[in-house]
Amino acid sequence: MDIKISKTHKSRIGEVDFDNLGFGEFFSDHMVTVDYQGGEWKSARIIPFGTIEILPSVCSLHYGQVVFEGLKAFRTKDGSINLFRPEKYHERYNRSCQRLCIPPLEFGFFISGLKELLLLDKDWIPKKKGTSLYIRPFVFATDSFLGVHVSNTYRFMIITSPVGAYYKEGINPVRLITSGEYARAVKGGLGSAKTPANYASSLLPAEEAQKKGFTQVLWLDGAEKRYIEEVGTMNIMFVIDNELVTPPLEGSILPGVTRDTVIQLAQKWGVTVKEEKISIEDVFEATKNGRLQEVFGTGTAAVISPVGWIQHEDELITINNGKIGHFSQKLYDEITGIQYGEKPDIFGWCYRI
Ligand code: COI
Repeated sequence: MDIKISKTHKSRIGEVDFDNLGFGEFFSDHMVTVDYQGGEWKSARIIPFGTIEILPSVCSLHYGQVVFEGLKAFRTKDGSINLFRPEKYHERYNRSCQRLCIPPLEFGFFISGLKELLLLDKDWIPKKKGTSLYIRPFVFATDSFLGVHVSNTYRFMIITSPVGAYYKEGINPVRLITSGEYARAVKGGLGSAKTPANYASSLLPAEEAQKKGFTQVLWLDGAEKRYIEEVGTMNIMFVIDNELVTPPLEGSILPGVTRDTVIQLAQKWGVTVKEEKISIEDVFEATKNGRLQEVFGTGTAAVISPVGWIQHEDELITINNGKIGHFSQKLYDEITGIQYGEKPDIFGWCYRI
């Protein structure tokens, strides 16, 4: 793929406080943009990060024909760049596009634009442990119309952001509350696609949860409001009787890449992994009889996020005394160790640039 590059005249990197990055607050100097017209992806460009012009009538603003991804690049000790599992993220991107009737992108196309962008903005990849460059590829429909139907034209873009921890808690345990009257997704809907609709449906419940002092919502299934699904910004895992239990991928939850990473690591360590339905009653029961050892979320942004408290209806449970558990810490250390090139990458997850 031929990419035309127009460099910025003035880098904004000096405006960034690399010691206080937060999450998704700063954006690197350049971005990738590619158009889909006449049945093909064309005019790939890297241009300075900035505003884009779109008509107020573009259908994606009205009907949400949009897909996005989130992956990370890390600076290793020897100064090179580690992109973590780009093939897996690309695979999910195309699966989400299929659900949203958006034309797919070939991996070669996806990675070559991204590589050029990372090389151009390599100084934006932060160096401190616990930080990374978060990469946000996304695609949106660009036809101008108000009828509800599939667009013929699209724009694919990649922006990047130097980030620290996603939650203000960092690696300290978060507080979750179950979703009550709300539902995130149901089987057959959009729940397994990475599309803004799922995040839009989480906003009001998340606001309400935060007002009550919780970090996030623990989604229960939309039909019976009983079975645990995910946290919206991450998948969820339970350690019960030394076994790892996580809800199965049955169409309503996001197939997390970190979820897959954790499952593969746990299996390699000889831990039994059960991808099976688990109800909120099961979790509370396991707490009461001392079988629930740890709960944690897994996500690209969140990495491993221990859960210290879960509120359901009028009961609150405390997990592992509100402290990070041994298994969560071991996973965090192993995953970040591989990402920063400090531990052997035996699964071949790192794509070196
Ligand atoms: C991610 O973990 O990459 C996500 O997309 C979650 C959130 C930042 C929307």
